[in-house]
Amino acid sequence: MNYQKNIENQIMVIFGASGDLTYRKLIPAIFDLHENKLLPTHFAVLGVSRSDISDTEYRKKMKKGIKLFSHYKDASDSAIDVFLSKVFYLSMDTGDGKEYGILKEKLSEIDTEYKTEKNYIFYLSTPPHLYPKIPKYLYGQGLNLQRKGFRRIIIEKPFGHDLQSAQDLNKKLLEFFDDEQIYRIDHYLGKETVQNLMVTRFANGIYEPLWNRNYIQHVEVTAAESIGVEGRGGYYDEAGALRDMVQNHLMQLVALIAMEPPTKINAEAIKYEKMKVFQALHPLSEEDLKKNVIRGQYSDSKVRGEEIAGYRQEKSVDKESRTETFFAMKFFIDNWRWAGVPFYIRTGKRLPTRVSEIVIHFKPSPQQLFCTNEDNENQLILRIQPDEGILLKTGMKMPGNGYEVKSVNMDFHYTDLDNHYIPEAYERLILDCMAGDSTLFMDGPASEETWRFVQPILTYWENNKDAPLYGYPAGSWGPEKSDNLIEGENQKWRYPCKNLADDGIYCEL
Ligand code: BG6
Repeated sequence: MNYQKNIENQIMVIFGASGDLTYRKLIPAIFDLHENKLLPTHFAVLGVSRSDISDTEYRKKMKKGIKLFSHYKDASDSAIDVFLSKVFYLSMDTGDGKEYGILKEKLSEIDTEYKTEKNYIFYLSTPPHLYPKIPKYLYGQGLNLQRKGFRRIIIEKPFGHDLQSAQDLNKKLLEFFDDEQIYRIDHYLGKETVQNLMVTRFANGIYEPLWNRNYIQHVEVTAAESIGVEGRGGYYDEAGALRDMVQNHLMQLVALIAMEPPTKINAEAIKYEKMKVFQALHPLSEEDLKKNVIRGQYSDSKVRGEEIAGYRQEKSVDKESRTETFFAMKFFIDNWRWAGVPFYIRTGKRLPTRVSEIVIHFKPSPQQLFCTNEDNENQLILRIQPDEGILLKTGMKMPGNGYEVKSVNMDFHYTDLDNHYIPEAYERLILDCMAGDSTLFMDGPASEETWRFVQPILTYWENNKDAPLYGYPAGSWGPEKSDNLIEGENQKWRYPCKNLADDGIYCEL
């Protein structure tokens, strides 16, 4: 990695230390930073949660997580142990303010021993009901004060459940920490390919003249997942696809595609441009809510010969649940660049494959001179994952007599790069927070603005319990209705792989 930041010595405190996120993502990401020699000389992790276990037991568990989920899963035991010798554990009830004195003492102990200069980051990876409480209790112990060393707080998603709760949470946090101390995570922003959206757009002169309503017909954003709710049924049934993926991850992608060039690459300038996009989202009318918003829920099906349970059969999901596991929507952005250009977004669980991509559909040439097949459309496909890269589709003459045009691909894959270490999103974001760089984090007002945009959908569903919820077989591309969202206009979604539940229709490579 050729990327080095000036990072001060510090302690990372993880609340929710025995949770899944810590095990699968956070500790493996910090270990990757360690292996990439990006951690400061004096550094420690303090895991905090209720389970009554020792440092040794905690390290044993984290070692397992590192071996399963780290980039360097094949690292030797001794290399992992060197890292884990800096990982400590404290058992306490984080919901009880009276216990925070113990935390303060423990921090001070580690700080003295490891010379971490009273620089602390508090990472909240707990159930969301603790988000307002923990900052308050830290404040109660003066752990928010930056007189000696810095104090930062990272808040995991979900950031609120609707507009009101997001506003309340922002307000509460600001009672105890200053805005510049708060880092709201959206892990999509930590993805290498998501950051590359800005580079593609703003480091290349060729795209900018085309990047507007004059040349772009429509924009498509897909975040498809083949997995189901994976043991998170309790959380997901309360959230659904709109809250889980759209208000945050997909809206961030939309902002990066639609924003104006920032004056500089820094947190302030980028957040300012993204906010302008959110403010320009055309408010959804009652008609949009009925026509341009589609929700679906997967039913049981056979995928590659394997029986897949329907959503309502998943553990901790209400047997009559009306929570959406698929969401698609058409909307517009009211500004000079995008007026009249439809944006289509979709996301879902139990779709045929895992793929996140953005497709820029360009308008056809003004005159059709050649005999052409109907899928000869110029598309720029920005592949976020898993096959990270960029694909440009253009028409080419088929060799031989006449002028038959064929659509061909100009295709770049990150794997073609010599040194293609792609850091995990959490690795990048944790490092940035350690360095005090909030460029890739969400700010409070932007988060509220995206909630403001989706709130009418939540309210509509709340008030119209029988609003359509379409079924779709697990392994398919979602409800047929979502096809009509685009196909009504003689266009269609891109289908990057077969519809596994339905005999291979909808395939486009
Ligand atoms: C999380 C959602 O924020 O993002 C999950 O809560 C989802 O439901 C995940 O599976 C998708 O992230 P990624 O990085 O796998 O696309």
